[in-house]
Amino acid sequence: MTDQTTYPPSDDFAANAHVNAAKYDEMYAASINDPEGFWREQARRLDWMTFPQTIKNTSFKSDDVSIKWYEDGVLNVAANCVDRHLEKRADQTAIIFEPDDPEKPAQHITYKELSEKVNRMANVLLSQGVMRGDRVVIYLPMIPEAAYAMLACARIGAIHSIVFAGFSPDALANRINDCGAKLVITADTAPRGGRVTALKSNTDAALLHCSDKVRCLVVKHTGDQTTWIQGRDVDVKYLMEHASPECPARPMNAEDPLFILYTSGSTGKPKGVVHSTGGYLTYASLTHEVSFDYHEGDVYWCTADVGWVTGHTYIVYGPLANGATTLMFEGVPTYPDASRFWQVCEKHKVAQFYTAPTAIRALMGQGEDFVTKCDLSSLKLLGTVGEPINPEAWNWYNDVVGKGKCPIVDTWWQTETGGHMMTPLPGAHATKPGAAMKPFFGVQPVVLEPTSGEIIEETATEGVLAIKDSWPGQMRTVWGDHERFEQTYFSDYKGYYFSGDGCRRDADGDYWITGRVDDVINVSGHRMGTAEVESALVAHAKVAEAAVVGYPHDIKGQGIYCYVTLMNDVEPSDELKKELRTWVRTEIGPIASPDLIQWAPGLPKTRSGKIMRRILRKIAENDYGALGDISTLADPSVVEELIENRMNKG
Ligand code: WTA
Repeated sequence: MTDQTTYPPSDDFAANAHVNAAKYDEMYAASINDPEGFWREQARRLDWMTFPQTIKNTSFKSDDVSIKWYEDGVLNVAANCVDRHLEKRADQTAIIFEPDDPEKPAQHITYKELSEKVNRMANVLLSQGVMRGDRVVIYLPMIPEAAYAMLACARIGAIHSIVFAGFSPDALANRINDCGAKLVITADTAPRGGRVTALKSNTDAALLHCSDKVRCLVVKHTGDQTTWIQGRDVDVKYLMEHASPECPARPMNAEDPLFILYTSGSTGKPKGVVHSTGGYLTYASLTHEVSFDYHEGDVYWCTADVGWVTGHTYIVYGPLANGATTLMFEGVPTYPDASRFWQVCEKHKVAQFYTAPTAIRALMGQGEDFVTKCDLSSLKLLGTVGEPINPEAWNWYNDVVGKGKCPIVDTWWQTETGGHMMTPLPGAHATKPGAAMKPFFGVQPVVLEPTSGEIIEETATEGVLAIKDSWPGQMRTVWGDHERFEQTYFSDYKGYYFSGDGCRRDADGDYWITGRVDDVINVSGHRMGTAEVESALVAHAKVAEAAVVGYPHDIKGQGIYCYVTLMNDVEPSDELKKELRTWVRTEIGPIASPDLIQWAPGLPKTRSGKIMRRILRKIAENDYGALGDISTLADPSVVEELIENRMNKG
């Protein structure tokens, strides 16, 4: 156990931090003993048109889940992220844009410029007939227009739904249709790591499967040629230039949806996670300031993509609500070489740097020189998110990048939670490599015994991680399917929010996330439902059946392992493996590309026909000693065959 190795913040850091150890204890206790009082106070972080009287009105009752925070409050998110900063920081940089190509100049967008852009974009949306409550799908790369589009929607009360630019046309079409979007905002093409993604042509392909009423706003980012459909396609930049730079911020109820973000679960299609206006922004703002110990004047950089929740909360909403300078990076960590992250830190004097363990592992493998040749003296704090971080990567991050002087915050949270749920607070806690440590204010974690669902009271224990009561950043519902919301998160363990993760609590009461306990896998910090990959595979004419599991992968954390049963008359071949890989990439996107495909003449099933993934996971892990009880299988010989195949092919 590494529980004994702890890294306390320096006296200096603790003395200047927003929250030190004593303050954490005091604030945490207050947030639990008097949630109403605590969150009423925290709501004052924001500017309200009407300050809420009712603070918390929530129920986790499994057949009647209802979550409302600040329900009679009125505010506008864009006014909070932009307008209210104009008085004091009109000329301060709000967004630094660092392009993919390091030879191209970075852009510094001030709050004043941001205000103008957002208003112009909002007016363009209005001119296209977008109204309060309408859905707008955003399919953009990491360019400032993505932030303008988000805030423009918020300004007029439209609900945005960002689709990660790495998703395929099919995935885009499904999301446009599921939320009934009125329009989609995309770009011509997007350079990333020196390669170009044809976003507009992907969108054209997607729109073939959508209502012909859906308009397409195109940001001419690279100027590359694209097809153009008169009457449907609109040049956003051109319209923005001709739009008014004034647009009133619409008064919104705190519980009005701010955005929908699709995420993968154990079963079925991705769910539209719905986040609110008042509770979400309060939570985003507080967590951003406290977890990263953000101070006036700091340049803050989160390397996530706005297509994921991390980009929503910790590139755009949290930092801008706090009047911060937030960096948006269009590229990848290894282009032009493995020094890029550190060069960007040096160039823009980044103070807080937040990334995923997979990136750290990939860069770690390239050697220290790429890091040490850069001047990283501006760094004050490091953060990680998205998957458990192995101690080796943690130590490298701490020693080589942080030079032992930057606290590391390992932040555990989810698309559903809106913001950090567990993390050390950098001025308060002595960190441990690989531990998410402590609950954030207002968060009451419980460890449950997986089968009985009983709370385990002992301090040192392991089990399923659930949350006892609501917090303001929590998702409110699944878009169009409240029952699915109740079923997914509140029915397995009644009365609790079930996270889908397992955890360990050590003797000090600190939490360690052990990974998903359901059929969700985490590939390079991207969350994926194995069921989605399976349904993509079985959609191929030559595939009869497929089962997908995760297996340990040095860089990605988990890789995608596919067992495929072919149709009777189909011959297995390496060619066909290639074909299936390409097929899945087109069905879902490159992030879902199978790492390993194994032909499976049969799959291990129970007599009732349920695939026993536990066994498949073990075989994928090359762990044949611990297959457990296979006597309930309809045909136990299937397992031997699979093992033999696995061993032969490595
Ligand atoms: C995993 C990303 C360990 C976890 C913000 C969770 C983590 C899923 C951590 C959510 C962490 C996230 N340590 N595991 N610090 N952060 N996870 O919705 O399994 O894309 O359930 O949100 O990522 O992924 P999502």
